[in-house]
Amino acid sequence: MHFHRDRGFTHAKASEITPRVDYEGRREWLKLIGTGVAGAALAAWAQRDALAQAGKLPSVRSTVAGANVMDKPTSLVDAASYNNFYEFGTGKADPAQNAHTLKTRPWTVAVEGEVKKPKVYDIDELLKLSPLEDRVYRLRCVEGWSMVVPWVGYSLAELIRRAEPTGNAKFVQFVTLADPKQMPGLGSRSLDWPYVEGLRMDEAMHPLALLTFGLYGEVLPNQNGAPVRMVVPWKYGFKSAKSIVKIRFVDKQPPTSWEKAAANEYGFYSNVNPNVDHPRWSQATERRIGEDGIFAKKRPTLMFNGYEAQVGRLYAGMDLKKYY
Ligand code: MTE
Repeated sequence: MHFHRDRGFTHAKASEITPRVDYEGRREWLKLIGTGVAGAALAAWAQRDALAQAGKLPSVRSTVAGANVMDKPTSLVDAASYNNFYEFGTGKADPAQNAHTLKTRPWTVAVEGEVKKPKVYDIDELLKLSPLEDRVYRLRCVEGWSMVVPWVGYSLAELIRRAEPTGNAKFVQFVTLADPKQMPGLGSRSLDWPYVEGLRMDEAMHPLALLTFGLYGEVLPNQNGAPVRMVVPWKYGFKSAKSIVKIRFVDKQPPTSWEKAAANEYGFYSNVNPNVDHPRWSQATERRIGEDGIFAKKRPTLMFNGYEAQVGRLYAGMDLKKYY
């Protein structure tokens, strides 16, 4: 983002940056699932591609308002090979290449701070806390590209309610894993580790704020933030912290990684807003990943990424230029 000043935000197509065997093999795999012989194929496949070691995550279609956009979903290959996950490198292809070293079991998530019921969850307990839903969300990166992904998870509000926040809980902070043994990117000072993010309490309680365990009906590929991440669809993608280990309830607005790196460019709120430009580029339009041939038109970026009807009231009366 901030560090790609000279390169701008052009990018290679996923088919160029994904090894051909993965790309083709993936298609084979999806075909096999369709014909029911997936079980037999699984063992062979698992040795070939970490992606497919992923288990299925049964889910129901979400009935939350705004949770299923009609845009055509980005292909799984694109969503899992064009990533920002600086713990595994700053290049878009780096996470898919390097994140196989991330160990997602055992894994715990500590819910702590201003709550009556703090608890350290084992990831498999967290997974079963509430029925999993599938939700097709737009995700708009601050760099000017966007994706449409069928995520699997449940509203963060389900977890928050069980934790019983105290009256002092005004914000939620997300702390993510920072283990140099598993994450080669930590060797560089591209950001201050661990990657941290935050939401105001009412934002965190909004039903669209998704605690996410999977995409495309399967557990998250490591590069997409396994085993658990946030997806906050009305905010720029960097608000959606990956590989979370702590969810902390606090009384003051918590520091966030990109704000710490460049406060004049990345604010705490970071709501998608075509009318408030980034200091170095316009936010009025976006490029949809997968639609980036030479004839592809850029799309207009929508206020709150198209979720204004659902979330606009959270910001009534706020100056969104000041609180960018
Ligand atoms: N979470 C962590 N821990 N580290 C990161 O570098 N990058 C963010 C966000 N979450 C990031 C992160 C950014 S800039 C974006 S755009 C999204 O993850 C990308 O999510 P995706 O790769 O699943 O599309």
